[in-house]
Amino acid sequence: MLPIEHLYVHIPFCPKLCPYCCFYVEEGGRNKNIAFLDALLSELDAVQALRPVVPKTIYFGGGTPTALLVDQLEYLLKGIHARLPLNALQEWTVEANPATVRPEKARVLREAGVTRMSLGVQSWNSSTLKTLGRVHSAQQAHTTYDLLRSTGFPAVNIDLMFSVPGQTPEEWECDLKTTLGLKPEHISAYCLTYEEDTEYFRKLRTGQFVQSEEKDARMFELTMDVLSEGGFRQYEISNHARRGFESMHNLAYWQGREYLGLGPSAFSTLDGTRFQNVRDTAEYVKRLKGGVSPMLTQEPLPPETLLKESIAFGLRLDIGVAEEQLAPWSDETAHLEEIGLLEQVEGHFRLTRRGKMLADAVGERFM
Ligand SMILES: C[S@@+](CC[C@H](N)C(=O)[O-])C[C@H]1O[C@@H](n2cnc3c(N)ncnc32)[C@H](O)[C@@H]1O
Ligand code: SF4
Repeated sequence: MLPIEHLYVHIPFCPKLCPYCCFYVEEGGRNKNIAFLDALLSELDAVQALRPVVPKTIYFGGGTPTALLVDQLEYLLKGIHARLPLNALQEWTVEANPATVRPEKARVLREAGVTRMSLGVQSWNSSTLKTLGRVHSAQQAHTTYDLLRSTGFPAVNIDLMFSVPGQTPEEWECDLKTTLGLKPEHISAYCLTYEEDTEYFRKLRTGQFVQSEEKDARMFELTMDVLSEGGFRQYEISNHARRGFESMHNLAYWQGREYLGLGPSAFSTLDGTRFQNVRDTAEYVKRLKGGVSPMLTQEPLPPETLLKESIAFGLRLDIGVAEEQLAPWSDETAHLEEIGLLEQVEGHFRLTRRGKMLADAVGERFM
């Protein structure tokens, strides 16, 4: 049986909920305890009893993995080391909020073998940080970035957001340039999405916030120009890396590879099936304590669904999608080429610069 090579671990705790965020998270520390970590590890045990897990990539995401206390992080990392062979591991990422990293935590993560930290900076501008309801200041983000560098992580990603209400293109350009000045290996630059069931979504609906496609496009163009001039390759619509520092874990998702997700709300794609765990930390812990599966839903992925997903994700990658994969949609591809949204390069169809601005709409044409 082939081993599972990509492992995601969801840590659903945050110091404070951000008003735009729709990830499954809990504010504060009600369930932030050893029982939760034991539940994660016993979920891993249960999967390992059925299939070997030999990770090439591990990704601790959330939520905020660095919201765990130092002892808790040590306990989890020890549990992972005790259960998994890590000789094939090529990348181990941990997401961090700048307000939650202390020297001791950074040291514990690095010593356990974490190779890549992903820091949620969002902006270097105090007024944008305030609008986003972030718990950290720009100064705190700078200090945390310096700490990650001095701890010796081989790669650091900085997450940024644009088209935030009140943010001007000039301020966004300044955020990009400040980020370049710090010389991270990777930059994720996300256009703000108004996710349903968030405070931001309600404000948009009631007219307190206004969305402008024109502004989104202008800021997206700025992103591409400034980051490519700074030596970054846009290998995915929202992701820019110095050569050799692309996120291997995220590429595995986008290339439709199998992965195991542990933790409340986590998705897994294994054996042609997509699973999702319960979106409730207390229930997740209760189930695993009682030897019950934490799975909430299970959906078979027929080959045509997998093909459509791989086209939608593939079009977001700079390499694009192989021509033969798109053969059943030859009328669509001819039309999209004609109107300048797709181009053919070395046997692949890929988005043009204008196509990248309309990536979601182009992807939908193949759904
Ligand atoms: C799980 S969070 C990263 C770590 C940590 N929780 C934090 O926020 O600092 C992943 C990233 O998704 C992005 N993000 C979250 N909600 C978003 C939204 N509604 N629109 C665009 N980007 C979003 C942010 O850049 C965030 O850093
Ligand atoms: S953006 Fe990050 S810190 Fe904010 S609520 Fe979402 S996961 Fe937590």
